Amino acid sequence: MFSLCVIEGDGIGKEVIPAAVEVLKAVIPDLYIHAAQAGWQTFQEHGTSVPTETLTAVRKCGAALFGAVSSPSGKVEGYRSAILTLRQELDLYANVRPVRSLPRLSPRQDVNLVIMRENTEDLYVGRERMEEDSAVAERVITRRASQRIGRRAVEVLRIENFQRLTIVHKANILPLTDGLFRDTVCATVQEMRHPGENWAVDELLVDTAAYQLVSHPHTFGVLVTTNLFGDILSDEAAFWCGGMGLAPSLNWGDEIAIAEPVHGSAPDIAGRGIANPIAAILSAALLVRYYWNLPQVAWQIENAVRRALEFDIQVSGSQLKPDIPTEAVLKAILTRLND
Ligand code: NAI
Ligand code: MG
Repeated sequence: MFSLCVIEGDGIGKEVIPAAVEVLKAVIPDLYIHAAQAGWQTFQEHGTSVPTETLTAVRKCGAALFGAVSSPSGKVEGYRSAILTLRQELDLYANVRPVRSLPRLSPRQDVNLVIMRENTEDLYVGRERMEEDSAVAERVITRRASQRIGRRAVEVLRIENFQRLTIVHKANILPLTDGLFRDTVCATVQEMRHPGENWAVDELLVDTAAYQLVSHPHTFGVLVTTNLFGDILSDEAAFWCGGMGLAPSLNWGDEIAIAEPVHGSAPDIAGRGIANPIAAILSAALLVRYYWNLPQVAWQIENAVRRALEFDIQVSGSQLKPDIPTEAVLKAILTRLND
């Protein structure tokens, strides 16, 4: 039996996650579902953005689907971002962010890459302090974290049958931190190579990588990089999916994985029933492929999304028709699951 902890979160999380759960139920009939809470509303009600029961539930289920959470725009005493808390508490060290062309919505049809973002260290831990009139942020890169993201990058490369793995860094300016990252990842991936495998390993400075993700996105396979660079590059690359409402991700540790659409809680459209559920549905497919190891079922979901976009879902220009209901997109995808 497969167990899933469902954390809808705030805003459109409450609209897109139920749609993704419907799709999962359709392809995995014996799915056991446990609902849990996290986010800004949870903080306001319980004084914590991630209650202990939620951490326990995710640990017990192993797999979780997370919607999005709202954050206050200024510092609020006692508040800590829910998704950062989950990533850190559960040691979800790899953030898998595939960017694939989708029919009719993507600006080009030949993009198929995955950004592997280290998910536990770097500037993202937010260790900042004031020293008189200077503000200081601490950036720690470790050999251990670099090794394990390198290993995961090769696992993903094999599962997806990519031929190129690119290490992205800024070691020319940061020879200690990014030098350690580059050298460790490089050694780790070379050690993992099986006889007969001939995928290529190369490296790019992050600024060059940013440029080439715009100029030559079709030439990439797996990119592996540190936390903050991965955050920025993956949002940049998500342009090629066709928009933020379409980009999926997976936070993947050794025992636990949490899938989440890349987008936020979209307060501007929340509550209207028009949020695009595709990013959430494609995130659910990542759990199916990488965590439950059911590649055929993951393909079934992704194929249904592609077919529905090709034939059923109304598109105007290269965007979903404005105000198309979440329900209508879901229904189109459910109908295409057996194509
Ligand atoms: P956002 O991703 O929520 O929205 C950006 C724009 O994209 C908005 O115009 C929104 O309507 C649109 N959009 C996003 N997802 C969509 C979908 N599925 N269908 C249709 N349109 C969609 O980012 P924003 O506005 O910067 O942040 C809003 C809130 O979300 C903030 O409180 C922020 O902190 C939070 N946030 C949470 C994240 C998470 O939970 N992982 C990630 C990013 C932001
Ligand atoms: Mg981001």
